[in-house]
Amino acid sequence: MKVILATHNPGKIREFSQMAEPCGIELLPMPDDLDPEETGSTFLENALIKAHAAAKVTNMPAVADDSGLEIEALSGRPGIRSARYCEGTDKDRREKILEEMAGVPEGKRQAAFVCAMALCLPDGTVLKTTEERWHGSIGFVSRGENGFGYDPIFELDGRNQTSAMITNEEKNTLSHRGQAWRKMVDFIGSPEMKF
Ligand code: IMP
Repeated sequence: MKVILATHNPGKIREFSQMAEPCGIELLPMPDDLDPEETGSTFLENALIKAHAAAKVTNMPAVADDSGLEIEALSGRPGIRSARYCEGTDKDRREKILEEMAGVPEGKRQAAFVCAMALCLPDGTVLKTTEERWHGSIGFVSRGENGFGYDPIFELDGRNQTSAMITNEEKNTLSHRGQAWRKMVDFIGSPEMKF
């Protein structure tokens, strides 16, 4: 089964491709010049915008995700603005979060990575949506070299490790995106998947 993956994010392309290959799903890139504006007010609305746009332009089924970090002590920020919470690099955004969280004590630093995913057909049919969460907390410093984005400040529950300190394989098992992807793959392999 060939499906367009509607993202230009290299970190996501790597993670999804690793998960797709063993399931017999061939993920194809979306056209370079397609960059739909994420105007939704929820993760799911943004995933639908991207999946609809990619399916229409390519005339193939397309899957898109929208993800981000929600921090309780910051009333859910950075949320849907995770990728552009401030100007600069991923490191600048991590430092901004650590500064904003400076006065928040251990035990009140709960956070979750969220991933919404949508699978759409070229005629606009929405075949499947899902939204999954990976619970953890925000550390006091950045730790670890793997992953991307906010991984070095996302402390795993019950372990002395951030999500930047585990292998890609383990991250795929635990993560918001891994959980959402497995639900999507189950659907793509089911009789309901007609294209
Ligand atoms: P999107 O590309 O609009 O879904 O934005 C996702 C943003 O959320 C990324 O640029 C990261 O800043 C953050 N994010 C989402 N998932 C992860 C993850 O697994 N690790 C670290 N940061 C993540």
